Amino acid sequence: MNTQYFHKELSEWFLSHHRVLPWRETDDPYKIWISEIILQQTRVAQGYEYYMRFVEHFPEVGQLAQADEKEVLLLWQGLGYYSRARNLHAAARQIIEKFGGRFPTNYTDIHSLKGVGDYTASAIASFAYNAPYAVLDGNVYRVLSRMLDDETPIDTTYGKKHFQECANQLLDTDNSRVYNQAVMELGAICCTPLSPQCARCPVNTLCKAHLHNTVRL
Ligand code: ADE
Repeated sequence: MNTQYFHKELSEWFLSHHRVLPWRETDDPYKIWISEIILQQTRVAQGYEYYMRFVEHFPEVGQLAQADEKEVLLLWQGLGYYSRARNLHAAARQIIEKFGGRFPTNYTDIHSLKGVGDYTASAIASFAYNAPYAVLDGNVYRVLSRMLDDETPIDTTYGKKHFQECANQLLDTDNSRVYNQAVMELGAICCTPLSPQCARCPVNTLCKAHLHNTVRL
């Protein structure tokens, strides 16, 4: 694949078509972290208000660390998966104790935070610091699976490793901040599961499934 063309088309599309969202208007790793934890199991439409209230209530990591767990859970009320809130609170305390209150700046340290896995560490490292880590979530998996016309299922250790390697290969290492968000956004609003809009896809000429007429519905 012509990756240079892929990167250029994708980033130009993203810059003119993306949904404007508050966590995309900041490079504060703390706020990006909060948004990613909320959006792990929650849709943007529902997560939006929770994010706004959360960062208004706890604008900085120190305030979250000092809060009572009850206060954190109260703000989370209705979102579900409450272990996310408990982990956020515990990780805020880790940041104070282990990192002197400064949000960690490299992938390994970010990954060491409670509740932060491979996807979230890559998302924070790239969105906040433009560090060259490729995100792999459900949207990215679907986009790559179609682009490469590769049906390997992702629900196995091998499948995850395989697609993480594909994602790493395709990553725009100079511009991971925009690239990662662009692939995710393409999956969220264009390369959707049931009715992908291939006619308006910026990279349809590179898409093997589109070419082979095997975009699975
Ligand atoms: N889902 C997970 N992370 C997201 C983000 N940064 N923007 C939109 N949707 C998301």
